[in-house]
Amino acid sequence: MCGIIGYVGMENAVPVILDGLKRLEYRGYDSAGIAVLNEQGFGVVKQKGRLSSLEKLIDQHPIDGVIGIGHTRWATHGEPSDINSHPHLGSQHRIAIVHNGIIENYQQIKERLQQKGISFVSQTDSEVIAQLAEYYYTGNIVETVIKTANALEGSFALGIMSLDEPEKLIAVKQDNPLIIGVAEHGNFIASDVPAILAHTNKVYYLNDKEIAVLTGSTVEFFNMDGEPLHKELEVVNWSLDSAEKGGYEHFMLKEIMEQPKILQDTIHSALSGDNAKIIESLDIAKYKKIVITACGSAYNAGMVARYVFEQLCRVSVEVELASEFRYKDPIIDRDTLVILVSQSGETADTIAAMREAKRRGAVTLSIINVVGSTIAKEADNTIYTMAGPEIAVATTKAFSAQLVLLYLLAIAFARKLGRISPEVEAKLVADIKSIPNKAAEILERVDSIQKYAASCVGYKSIFFIGRNIDYAIALEGSLKLKEISYIHSEAYAGGELKHGTISLIEDNTMVVAISCCERLYEKIYSNVEQVISRGAKVLMIGNCIKAAPGEKLEVIKIPAINELFSPSLSVIVLQLFAYYVAANKGLDIDKPRNLAKSVTVE
Ligand code: M6R
Repeated sequence: MCGIIGYVGMENAVPVILDGLKRLEYRGYDSAGIAVLNEQGFGVVKQKGRLSSLEKLIDQHPIDGVIGIGHTRWATHGEPSDINSHPHLGSQHRIAIVHNGIIENYQQIKERLQQKGISFVSQTDSEVIAQLAEYYYTGNIVETVIKTANALEGSFALGIMSLDEPEKLIAVKQDNPLIIGVAEHGNFIASDVPAILAHTNKVYYLNDKEIAVLTGSTVEFFNMDGEPLHKELEVVNWSLDSAEKGGYEHFMLKEIMEQPKILQDTIHSALSGDNAKIIESLDIAKYKKIVITACGSAYNAGMVARYVFEQLCRVSVEVELASEFRYKDPIIDRDTLVILVSQSGETADTIAAMREAKRRGAVTLSIINVVGSTIAKEADNTIYTMAGPEIAVATTKAFSAQLVLLYLLAIAFARKLGRISPEVEAKLVADIKSIPNKAAEILERVDSIQKYAASCVGYKSIFFIGRNIDYAIALEGSLKLKEISYIHSEAYAGGELKHGTISLIEDNTMVVAISCCERLYEKIYSNVEQVISRGAKVLMIGNCIKAAPGEKLEVIKIPAINELFSPSLSVIVLQLFAYYVAANKGLDIDKPRNLAKSVTVE
C-alpha cells in the first residue's frame, strides 16, 4: 500500500518525482523518500512523515539527477521511521530500490545474507531486495533483477537503479500494480496513472513477471527468461483536471460534487457504451447463484445490490467479505457467477477471492474503476465505473458509480430471466436515468447539511439505522463517518436495536435513521421514537418521512425515487454529513490516519 514512481529523462528527476509522489500520497503517507543517481553516485533523501516534510528536507539538502526513484510509504514491516523509509540501498551503495508490497520470505533471505557478512540497517522486508540484488549483481542488471525476483516470495512492485548501469531504470512486478509512462522528455514507472498524468497519458500496463527497462528515450520489456516482449502502448482517457483539487479544499468534497456527471457517464456506458456490450454478453440463465465479494465500501455496494438483484431477478445472492471468502471453503462452482467489486482493482483480498472463485470453476465478473488493474485484467469479464481517478481515501464517486452499474446489471439480468416486462424495464431505467439530476438537487442543498453536521462534532459515537435496503446504505454511512471523522460508529438494521444495541442509547447519543422504504416507514419511525425516548438525538434522512422536525429530531429530505435506487440519493447526504463532521473537526480528510486508498496487502 505504498506509492512508487521513477523517472529517467532530460529533466531534473527531483521535482518530477516530488510532483508524482504528491499524487500518490493517498496510497500511504507515513514516510517518503527519493533517490537520484548522478556522477557522485546515489543521492538519497528520506524521512518519516508527510511529503511536505520531505520537500523541506530536500530544500536543505538538495539532490539532483536525470534518473531517480521515489516512494511514499504505508508501513507494514518496521515502524515508520527515517531509516525504514524508502528508497533502500544495498550496503555497497550500488543498487537502490523502492518497493510496494510484502516480501514473505524476507527473514530467510536476510539471515542468509547476514551469514555472508552483509549488514542491514532497517527493519523492513524491502531492504533485502536491494541487498540481494547487490549480492547477485552479475554486471547485467536485467539478469540480476530476474534472479532477485525469482528468489522473492510475496508481492512486489519494484523500481530499481544500479550504479553500474546508471542510464537504466528497471521495473518488475508481482501482484502489485505498476505502469510505465512514455513522455516527450522521458519515461516513467508509477504505481498508478494520476502520478504521471501531468506528463503523459501514454502508458504500458506491466503484467506480473514482466520486466521493463527504461532509458531516457527507450522502453524495453523482457520476460523472466530474459526474452524480449512486445507490449502495446495504450492511451488513458483520464484528464489531469480530474486528478487535481480544482479549488476544493479536499479531494473528497470535489469527488462528492462530481457525482452527477460520473453517474451520467456510467449510466450511459452501461446502456449504450462499452459496458453495455459486456452486460449483454452475460448469460445469467446459466447460473444458479450469484455471489458478490468485495471489501469496505465496495462490499457495502454489494449489500445494496443484493436487495436489487433478489427483488428484480428472484435469484439468490450472497454477499461475502473478500477478506473472508477464501478461508470459508465457499460453496461455488461453474454454476455460480461471482461478482467482484473494487475501485482500485488492486485490493489484495478481492484479488485472492477472485482467484479462489476461478480456481473453483466459477465465472467472474468484475466492476472496476481503474483500467488495466489486476482484477480488471484477470476476471473473465469486466465492466468499468466511469468515475475517473478517485484520490480521497474515502470513496464517494466510485461507490456511487458501482451502485448504478449494479442496478443496471440487475435490470438486464431480470429481463433476460423473463422476470420483468419491457414496460417495467423501461420504467426502472427511467428511474435510474433520473438519479444524476436528483443527486445534483441534493448537492445544491449542501449548506443545510454542512450546518447540521457542524453541530455533531462533539459526539463520541453515532449510530446508523435503516430497514431493508436502507440498512445496507446505513452501513456505508457509518463507514464513511468513522473512517474520516474518527467518531465511533455502528450501523444496525432498525429491528436489531432491541436485541442489544438499544442498551447503548442514553442522553445525547446520536442516531442517523434512513427512511426511503415507504412500506417500512412506521417500523423505522417506531425505532426513532424508541431511541428518542431514551435520550437520543436523531437525524432522519429519506424521501418518505412524515414526522416533523422537533427538539430531538432533524429531518433531511431527498427526492422521491424507486426504493431500490434510493441508496444512490441517501448516500450523498451521508457522504456530505461525514465530510462536514470531519471538516469541522479540522481533520486530514483525504488521508485519514492508518488508512491507505489501495489496500494491496492482506
Ligand atoms: O479499491 P477497492 O474498492 O477494492 O477498496 C476497497 C476498500 O478498501 C475501500 O472501499 C475502503 O473501504 C474505502 N476507504 C472506504 O471509503
